[in-house]
Amino acid sequence: MKGLILSGGRGTRLRPITYTSAKQLVPVANKPILFFGIEWMREAGITDIGIIVGDTHAEIKKACGDGSRWGVKITYIHQTEPLGLAHAVGTAQEYLQDSPFVVYLGDNLVKDGISTLVKEFENDRPNAQILLAHVKNPQEFGVAELEGDRIVRLVEKPKEPKSDLALVGVYMFDSTVWEAIASLKPSARGEYEITDAIQYLVTTGYNVRSHIVQGWWKDTGRLEDLLEANRLLLETQERSLNGEMDDASNAQGRVQIGKGTKVVRSQIRGPVVIGENCLIEDAYIGPFTSIQDGAQVVGSEVEHSILLENSKVLHIGGRMEDSLLGKDVEVRRDDRKPRAYRFMLGDNSQVNVI
Ligand code: TTP
Repeated sequence: MKGLILSGGRGTRLRPITYTSAKQLVPVANKPILFFGIEWMREAGITDIGIIVGDTHAEIKKACGDGSRWGVKITYIHQTEPLGLAHAVGTAQEYLQDSPFVVYLGDNLVKDGISTLVKEFENDRPNAQILLAHVKNPQEFGVAELEGDRIVRLVEKPKEPKSDLALVGVYMFDSTVWEAIASLKPSARGEYEITDAIQYLVTTGYNVRSHIVQGWWKDTGRLEDLLEANRLLLETQERSLNGEMDDASNAQGRVQIGKGTKVVRSQIRGPVVIGENCLIEDAYIGPFTSIQDGAQVVGSEVEHSILLENSKVLHIGGRMEDSLLGKDVEVRRDDRKPRAYRFMLGDNSQVNVI
């Protein structure tokens, strides 16, 4: 069994972060989302992993290397244009050949991993196996209509969904999928849809199995979902304090602080993870916050947020919440006259002032 992780795509919903970085490398609980996918594959006994890459190939290759760190072998497969999930899978045909394989969307997180599902697929050998989850907003997903256990129809982002069962970003196929992909035409939004490929298998009478996910599952393609995934993962972390904390500071609950980080006159209320060589001074860091290496929070309050490497929140005097700061971003108080907001923002940035 081989693995295929899709890490190309446009990432329009996470702009401006995705102008300069791969969304699959945005960390949740200070670990890049993509690494969870690689670890779950390895845990399921899959050591031959192809990663589909697009414009952000250099960054993804640099972060994952040849996979030896996880004891797996990674092969990178370049998709020239993000023409859809089925197109991405089709790009990997030469790599996958006749092997059965599991496809994993590189920006998705499944709480309980994929081991049981892979085992079931290997034992029972249906032609395809898909995962479904009950969601509140089915019109934003590929949606399945079932009759009993049997899949009748799959529709991509339906305006009037017939069920609340969304396709989760993990699919298993045998080589019949190549016939399905070869039959596809672009959809109304111009993409080769994986839902159409699965629909072909259903209509042609192949054995397509579905499974309803019990634990949580997150597609982190939007900011709210990314923050939610960060929250769900931080809830399960252990406490571990490295770095230096002075007597006027206090860290409550499940807090992790990395080496070289200084905490001065600050309150930290877990679950929180702070990386290495950060400065937290005269600050409050509230629950569900992940702060990456080299970041600084001084004279400010931060809660339910993700701060990437070397970002700074300085003397803002209030609380920042529900936010994602990219690398080297600075948010600071400015006392110059005249008093005014002064911004330098990239395309598609969002700022909410009070
Ligand atoms: P999506 O989140 O569905 O698509 P996207 O990355 O283009 O994002 P947006 O809708 O915000 O523009 O993709 C799911 C995963 O599959 C993600 O990790 C990117 C990857 N992908 C590819 O590798 N190739 C593709 O052609 C597409 C559409 C996605």
